[in-house]
This record gives sequence, C-alpha cells and structure tokens, in this order.
Amino acid sequence: MQPQVGIQEVRARLANARAVTVLTGAGISADSGVPTFRGADGLWRNFRAEDLATPEAFARDPRLVWEWYNWRREIIVTKKPNPAHYALVILERRCERFWLITQNVDGLHRAAGSRKLSEIHGNIWKVRCTACGQIAENRDVPIALLPACPACSGLLRPHIVWFGESLDAEDLSRSYEAVESCEVMLIIGTSGVVYPAASFAPAAKAAGAFVAEITLDPAPYSETLDASLQGRAKDILPALVE
Ligand code: OAD
Repeated sequence: MQPQVGIQEVRARLANARAVTVLTGAGISADSGVPTFRGADGLWRNFRAEDLATPEAFARDPRLVWEWYNWRREIIVTKKPNPAHYALVILERRCERFWLITQNVDGLHRAAGSRKLSEIHGNIWKVRCTACGQIAENRDVPIALLPACPACSGLLRPHIVWFGESLDAEDLSRSYEAVESCEVMLIIGTSGVVYPAASFAPAAKAAGAFVAEITLDPAPYSETLDASLQGRAKDILPALVE
C-alpha cells in the first residue's frame, strides 16, 4: 500500500528541516518538454536508452550513438527550466544544508540557478576525449557525427556516465554523505531502477530521514517511503516550498 501522508505534512517537514537532500530524474524535466527515458516519447528509432547509452554501443557504432545524442541535443536546446526547477533553487537558498543530486544530463537545474548540485550522470553539453581524457564544453547543435579532440584529434564521446560505467568517485561520496546526513529527502521524477541512484531513497530512510517522492508512477521502493505524492513535479514542488 502507498503511504498516506499528504502534501501538508511534507511541506511542514520541509519548512522545519535544516538539512535537505533532493534526487531528481527525467520526470522533473518532462514538465519542460524533455522526453523521459522510459516513457513512450523517449524512444528514438525504437532503440531503448540501454541499447545506446553503453560503451559497447559507442565502440560498435559511434556515429549512431552521436546521432542519438544529437536528437537529444536538438530537443534540449529549445527547453527551459520549469517551476519545479525554480522551486528547488528557492529551497537551496533557504536551507542551512542542501544538496541536489540529479540524474539528468540536460543542464536545466544549473540554468534555473541551482548551484549546490552533483550531476551524477554527467552533462550532455560536455564532451570527453576517448584518447587523452580532456573534458570540454561543447554546445554545437548538431555536433559533428565523429567529433575530434582539439588537443590530440582523438574521438570525442559524450561526458555522460553510461550503463556499465562507474560514477565519478567524488560525486558518489558526496551524494552518499548528503543522503545519509539529511533530515528530509525528496525524490522527484525517477523510476528508481538505475543504480546507484535507486539506492539513495532506501539509504536515506535507513539513516532516519523523512523521505517523500513526487512522481507519476510509483518506484519499486515507494511503499517503504514516508510519502508518495502522485502528480506533476511542476504543480507539486512549488506548492511544497511556497
Ligand atoms: P525514467 O524515464 O526511467 O523515469 C521517469 C520518471 O518520472 C517516471 O517514474 C515517471 O512516472 C516520472 N514522471 C514523468 N513525468 C513526470 C512529471 N511531470 N512529474 C513528476 N514525475 C514525472 O527516468 P530516470 O529515472 O531519470 O541515464 O532514468 C534514470 C537514468 O536512466 C537516466 O539518468 C538515464 C537513463 O538511462 C543516463 O543517461 C546515463
């Protein structure tokens, strides 16, 4: 059974918390018009994210993977932060200790003004050289299909953490520190199936935090949370922080 705690209780908990940690997924950007990964509009030429966001897919056909990222770049470049992104900026400014962990690579949290954040899956506007490892910002839309490193001419790849790859160690330790030391944790718009992000809600709960999610479809761990608010992030989040 889903937890019965309602929006008023979550709002009161947030208002009284000194330490708040937030995890976001594709659902928060869905309200800006960015397709989610597991929703029907997230499919590109019938490939699932798991078929393209892997080092094996890139090794086999880098052009195809770059074509997919170009499709995503072309969509994201036209999108703006929505009221849910801005509500998190307000929360960051009013909280004594705040940390935002996002699985989103679209950069919309930073565009909204969030500063205390880890983009644990990377950023679609950054590239990394497969030869020399140099990381650079690249906002070309479209980007060349086999882009070359300006330093060494090696093949550039998206600076994104793919399936089967490890998260940056500093991002990971900072995230766990924030998850395990917060009083309130919000989980927003994530299906909760991709690890290690999927372990953050249970970890916060185990450490004694009040954990609430905002989503359209409950995650596998929803029943164990203190509150599961079903609806759009852009409607619920502003109501939680106003
Ligand atoms: P998913 O597409 O798996 O899940 C999106 C979640 O957002 C679902 O639970 C929806 O119910 C919910 N949702 C949709 N619209 C919403 C709205 N307007 N308000 C609130 N919730 C809404 O996306 P993620 O969980 O983010 O990795 O996916 C996790 C990772 O898998 C991604 O970071 C990506 C992907 O492969 C990489 O790119 C490395």
